[in-house]
Amino acid sequence: MEQLRSGDWYVGGDRNAYIHRAWMRRGNPADALDGTKPQIAIANTASDLTPCNMHLNEVAEHVKNGIWEAGGVPYNLPVVSLGETQVRPTAMLWRNMAAMAMEEMFRANPIDGLVLLGGCDKTIPALLMAAASVDIPAVVVPGGPMLTGYFRGEALGCGTDVWRLSEEARAGSITNGQFQASEQSMIRGKGHCNTMGTASTMAVVAEALGMTIPGFAGTPAADARLGSLSHQTGRLIVEMVAADRKPSDIMTKESFLNAIIAVAAVGGSTNSVVHLLAIAGRLGIDLTLDDFDAAGAGVPVMANLQPSGEFLMDDLFRAGGVLALLSQIRELFHPEPITVTGRPLVEYLVDQAVFDETVIMPRESPLMEDAGIAVLRGNLAPRGAIVKPSAATPALLQHVGPAVVFDSVEDMRARIDDPGLDVTADSVLVLRGCGPRGYPGMPEVGNMPLPRKLLEQGVRDMVRISDARMSGTAYGTVILHVAPEAAAGGPLAFVRTGDMITVDVENRILSMDVSDEELQARTQTPASEAAYAAPVRGWEKLYVDHVMQADTGADLDFLVGSSGSKVSRESH
Ligand code: FES
Repeated sequence: MEQLRSGDWYVGGDRNAYIHRAWMRRGNPADALDGTKPQIAIANTASDLTPCNMHLNEVAEHVKNGIWEAGGVPYNLPVVSLGETQVRPTAMLWRNMAAMAMEEMFRANPIDGLVLLGGCDKTIPALLMAAASVDIPAVVVPGGPMLTGYFRGEALGCGTDVWRLSEEARAGSITNGQFQASEQSMIRGKGHCNTMGTASTMAVVAEALGMTIPGFAGTPAADARLGSLSHQTGRLIVEMVAADRKPSDIMTKESFLNAIIAVAAVGGSTNSVVHLLAIAGRLGIDLTLDDFDAAGAGVPVMANLQPSGEFLMDDLFRAGGVLALLSQIRELFHPEPITVTGRPLVEYLVDQAVFDETVIMPRESPLMEDAGIAVLRGNLAPRGAIVKPSAATPALLQHVGPAVVFDSVEDMRARIDDPGLDVTADSVLVLRGCGPRGYPGMPEVGNMPLPRKLLEQGVRDMVRISDARMSGTAYGTVILHVAPEAAAGGPLAFVRTGDMITVDVENRILSMDVSDEELQARTQTPASEAAYAAPVRGWEKLYVDHVMQADTGADLDFLVGSSGSKVSRESH
């Protein structure tokens, strides 16, 4: 075996090697730093302020045991953590910051391999972006969903039921007191959201990319098997270092296409689009929005899970799990991409039993036929916008209606319930100023609330269009990620209330009935310049100056492409 990467720090008789070794002995066995034992960092997003990842310190102990057992040396490496429900103005503002900080620490430290502990929405994407950039052996431990909580005998889906119950309260069908009382039951225990929201989706993505032990994704945080699989992952990373099995060997163009197919089959979050594009960008893989439309086309949604369906992640696990679900469409997957074990994903998609066909629906009678993420284009979104048909109202997927435009989230919140707002169920709600640059950070506000007066009339869905994202737990006919965004001068900046909007998902069209000449004339008088005041310092400035548009993953332009693991200079 070639000298380990960490040997560059630890092996030799010079003063620098002495310093590196001396400070790291600290109770380690005498031969821990002799240059033959893989040094493994456990990149740990545990934080008391990231409630979905609070348990990851316990998980890290299981991983450590596996690493020691296999002959490696484990290190806990706390990395930037993002609690989706806690940080303001939006966790997405810092996904790239987290990924950049992780990347730098992965490269700077004397490590040979990485175990990536994630859970809450942005944590697995940031970890994968960083690992892809440094490209040393790495494997994901998905922290797992929480068990189902119950309120008055009914199962609650985290996130999804918050949106549903809050709309019911606004519509008056439940009292505000009942809504408030459900709060104590929403979060049952450790783990991330129990719906097929972004966290669950990104665990499935990590598995379909080949970056977890196959069969790991979807294992509940409270299940004993999470500990066993974490221990096994610790053993595996040592083997991966010996085999020099790197992210770039595992995450190929075909494995990204496999991930897109898997997201379609589980009815996964629209957020997976910007994350997959960003991870691929770090590897120099040419993944485009059109790949999502093409690879996801014809894939049935077989997971009857909220927000598209009825059940929760715990039910999916009970019914056979992610591999059982994916095994039903085995022949759709590209057979070549390997997983962290060195064996192809498709090898794991045989002999997988389904134990409950109400949760993992049969391929012949799925929850929904042909429901990948659709990419729409037209004079409202020249570089694309996306919609998740499985979460939408089928009748609204072909729709023409007048725009009701909001210049910002604040504008929308101030006017949406105004009884005087000129809006009907046929109107198209348009929200701008919420893209990567405009907000900044592209928040999850695309599933804007419906006007109260329409809710009271029984309306439960409308076409909504924005340059924002949407929570993976949300639902509705919500068209997102319009590119270019309004703040980047996209046509979305120039749509006016009353313009007729055409949504034609079957033909992939999103357009406004405004001529090229009229649109050109409108560009001379930008409507909401003041809304996009540029930040003057810190991360926000760096972000706004360099963030790319949603159609290419909203990473920073200078982080695209891998930088590898080489460090050219010593520290002393
Ligand atoms: Fe963390 Fe939903 S808030 S996964």
